[in-house]
Order: sequence, then structure tokens, then C-alpha cells
Amino acid sequence: MGIATVARGPALPLIGSTAHYLRNPLRFLEQCAPLADLVALDFIRYQPWLINDPALAEQVLVKNAANFTKDMFARELIPVLGEGLLTSEGAFWKKQRRLIQPAFHRERIAGYATTMVEQTLRALEGWRDGATIDVHHAMMSLTAEIVTRALFGTVAGDLHEIAACLDVVMDRFGDPLYTLLPSLERLPLERNRRFRTVTARLDAIVRGFISERREKGPSGPHDDLLAMLLAARDEDGSSMDDKTVRDEVLVLFLAGHETTALSLSWTLHLLSENPPAARALRAELDAVVGGRTPTVDDFAKLTYAHHVVREAMRLRPPAWALGRVAVAPFELGGHHFDAGTWLWVTPWTLHRNPKHFPEPEQFLPERWEGDLHKRLPKFAYLPFGGGPRVCIGQQFAMMESVLLLATIAQRFELRTAATPVVAPHPSITLRFKHGLHMVATKR
Ligand code: HEM
Repeated sequence: MGIATVARGPALPLIGSTAHYLRNPLRFLEQCAPLADLVALDFIRYQPWLINDPALAEQVLVKNAANFTKDMFARELIPVLGEGLLTSEGAFWKKQRRLIQPAFHRERIAGYATTMVEQTLRALEGWRDGATIDVHHAMMSLTAEIVTRALFGTVAGDLHEIAACLDVVMDRFGDPLYTLLPSLERLPLERNRRFRTVTARLDAIVRGFISERREKGPSGPHDDLLAMLLAARDEDGSSMDDKTVRDEVLVLFLAGHETTALSLSWTLHLLSENPPAARALRAELDAVVGGRTPTVDDFAKLTYAHHVVREAMRLRPPAWALGRVAVAPFELGGHHFDAGTWLWVTPWTLHRNPKHFPEPEQFLPERWEGDLHKRLPKFAYLPFGGGPRVCIGQQFAMMESVLLLATIAQRFELRTAATPVVAPHPSITLRFKHGLHMVATKR
């Protein structure tokens, strides 16, 4: 590409764009994105650049990836989650990624399909015809259960407590006020106290989980991820200490359930708002699966379900923003930037570019027909990020989203309840401001 266009985001004297952003972060970014390929934002303490061109996003995430680290949002997570795949950097990250990657090989993921469907069927047993379901909560419990069984073999008794603690962590980190005013953290607020309590609890629970496994010895019956982490040896023969294993377990647990639960919840809501798409999905399910339980072989055949999941992640990307910070000065789109520059690649805005997605606000699963995802410019659509830090769980998540959607939609029609109003809350992930409640009708 030639020289990238540059603009400044709307700002006021002294406070820059802070008030605009806090009022409605997503609307604010939508206003900024059409201004230029690169838009300078000003939040007093921080001056991020919003990237609105897929080729520039590719430059940052892939071609020049070595010059960037994750941003302060990721670094702020380190005291809680430690240095697992999501938060670590450099040679240490590379070594851990190489070690963990085999757990996500295609054949291995296919083996998780039965667990995914079985757990969904079990969860659905509790849904009564006509009942109002707290769908986001239900999906969080379900995906937490699945990732634990898939990656750690069994379900620890404390699973739901871990999920509840992580919920508090994500809630606190997603608050833009804490990001723009980090000193809030030192105030004697109930929220801060609760945050410190759950951090300590998380540490204790996961360490207990690991020491229990260590006691069973290396020759136990497990061949899951936890067993792999405990058995892994460095070139010098040394193994991971408990802290390193704890960090990877916590990160995989968090990254492995939160985003998938959101993807499914948003999908179910968007289907409720778009009855023709819901009907088309049911027709496909009737034709491909009929009355039997969905299996791994159905996954590839459920084409429309794939379109639905892709379209839902376009409009409501669970990872709505990816941040990077430059290690050294760099060129981008013909412009020079200093070390320390903060860049935002936001799937929320890139997925709304009318050049690539006509009628961008419409939920149109049909747009994915004819392999749109293969025809789009690279990084016009990036729900799983890209480059070396691309989501390790991408295939796991697609299989989980399609199979869970199939199993649920085969048995229930879900209609979003009139209240509470459904609205996105851009925390670290794209959550629900007031939850998601849906009325379930048996099919
Ligand atoms: C719909 C579901 C999911 C979405 C939308 C999603 C999205 C993402 C994105 C965008 C990134 C890159 C972040 C960045 O570049 O800053 C990422 C990284 C990651 N994801 Fe996912 N993810 C999903 C499901 C999963 C699952 C199921 C797992 C594990 C079981 C997982 C584990 C991870 C890990 C460990 C990383 C860090 C990888 C690294 O840096 O090496 N994710 N995810």
C-alpha cells in the first residue's frame, strides 16, 4: 500500500478523547474508524493509535510482530493470572507455546467433540419448557466445564469457584475507569478488596489442583494437558515449577471458556433477533442431524451453522480489541513512530468496514456463502487475532461453538426476554452490560 492516511480522533482541550470514550467506547471507535487508516487518540495519560486498514493490522500482528509486545491491559493481568500463554513474552512465551501446541492438534480436538455435546445435553436437562434462562451464565458454566474436562481430564470440585473468581477479575479489568485512572486501585474500595480476595483464592485453588495431581505421580492414568505440563522437560532436564504450571492452567481455563461462552451467547441472541436466520439454521439441523445427537462428523457438514457463528463473531467479536506496544521505533504505512507507541487493532471496527461487509450492521449469515472468509483481504476479519500470537484454541472454539449451537438449537428455540435490555459491555472481552436472559421453548 502507499502512504496511510492519518487523522486525530474527536477531542476536547485538556481531557482529549477521555469523555467521548467513557460515554460509549464502541460508538466512539466507530466514529473514529472512517476518519483515516491511522487515527490518533488522546486519553491524557495514553495516546493510542487506532488501526483501520487490514494491511496495516497485518504489518503489526504478523510482518513486524517481533517489534511489539502485548499492551498494559495484558501486563495488568500478570499479578493475577501470572505469565501464561496469553500474557508472557519473548523466548519464554515461544517455549511454552511450542510445548502446549500439541494439545490443540486437529485430531486431538476431534476427540473433545463427544465431551462438548455430552456436557451440553446434561446442561439442557435443567431447562424447562417456557422457562427464562440466564443464558450468559449458563454458557459460562457449560464452557468452563468443557475446557476443564478437555484439557485437564477431570472436573475439580472448585471449578465453579474458579469461574466465579475469574468473573470478578474480568469485571474489574474491563472497567475503562481503572485503565484511565490506575490510582483507583489503591483506594480502600469494596471492589478492590474483593479483587484481592479472589486473586488469593485463585492461586490457592489452582495450586491445590496441581499438588493433588503431582501426588498421584507421573505415571498416573492422565494424558491431558496438565499431565503434559507436569511431564515436560527442558533441554537441561529441568521441569516446570508449580508457579509456571499454575499460570498456564489459569490462562487456559480463562481464555478457554470466557470467549466461547460469549460467542455462543451473542450468537443465540442475534438468532433470536433474526428469525429467518434461526429458521434456516433449524432447517439445516433437521436435514443434517435429524433427531440424533450431533457428532464430530456433523461439524464439517453444518455449513449454515458455520456461517451463523462467523457472522455473530463479526458483529460481536468476543475479543473486540487487540493492543500492542512497540519495543523499538518503527515505520507503519509510510509514517515513523517512536518506541513505546501503543496500537489498537480492533475487530469491532474492522468487522464493520462497509468496503468488506456491505450493510455492516445487518446480521446476514448468508454473506459467508462461497467461502467469503477465504476471499476477504487478510485481517479484514480477525476474531481470533493473527500472526504468532493467534488464538491457540481457534479450532477448539469453532468446533465448540458449532456443536453447542447445533445441540441447543435442535432442542430449544430461544427468544431474548424483553428485559433486561441487551447491550454490549466492552470489558477485556465483549460482555453483556445487563446479562442475557432468554425464554426457552422446547422444539
Ligand atoms: C470464540 C472463542 C475464542 C475467541 C474469539 C478467541 C480469541 C482470541 C484472540 C483474538 C487471541 C489473540 C489475542 C492477541 O493477539 O492479543 C487469543 C489468544 C489466545 N487464546 Fe483464544 N479465543 C477463543 C477461544 C479460545 C479457546 C477455546 C482457548 C483454549 C482452550 C483459547 C486460548 C487462547 C490462548 C492460550 C491465547 C494466547 C495465545 C498466545 O499468545 O500464544 N482461546 N484468543
